[in-house]
Amino acid sequence: MAFSKEITEKIKQITDRYPSGRQKSALIPVLHLIQETGNNSLTIEQMDEVAAVLQITPIEVYEVATFYTMFNLKPVGKYVLEVCQTGPCMLNGSDEIIEYIKQKLGIKNGETTADGLFTLKTAECLGACGYAPMMQLGKTYREFLTKEKIDDILDQCRAAAN
Ligand code: FES
Repeated sequence: MAFSKEITEKIKQITDRYPSGRQKSALIPVLHLIQETGNNSLTIEQMDEVAAVLQITPIEVYEVATFYTMFNLKPVGKYVLEVCQTGPCMLNGSDEIIEYIKQKLGIKNGETTADGLFTLKTAECLGACGYAPMMQLGKTYREFLTKEKIDDILDQCRAAAN
């Protein structure tokens, strides 16, 4: 497969930010671009194409895409709830928040609701320990989570999806 002309131009805009011969430095922003313009996930074919465009090996792309939880390697819901489960968040109740989301949505960690709206994931420290417990939702952080806040967030997502 080859990326569309529009995507190819956007990739060029990204790689142009880096010095000549440093295309690999553009890998993370390019993967974000491909993920955002697709189904919020990356396929093997897309990662192979990224490798070809950046003139690096496919394994270099896989290494990055599998290391960072922000990249989805299988289809996910419209909204991905990434709840931090590292120490400070755990000590402030992230386990309860995760359990509440599981019950409320009827899914396990890593699963997507039948309506395709929500995916639950756990994440390691997202660098916002002072706001624990917290989660990432798209490009935003949701902090000092409570069950009531989860209810509100899910309602807001459902309303925005309609
Ligand atoms: S431990 Fe949750 S953001 Fe750092």
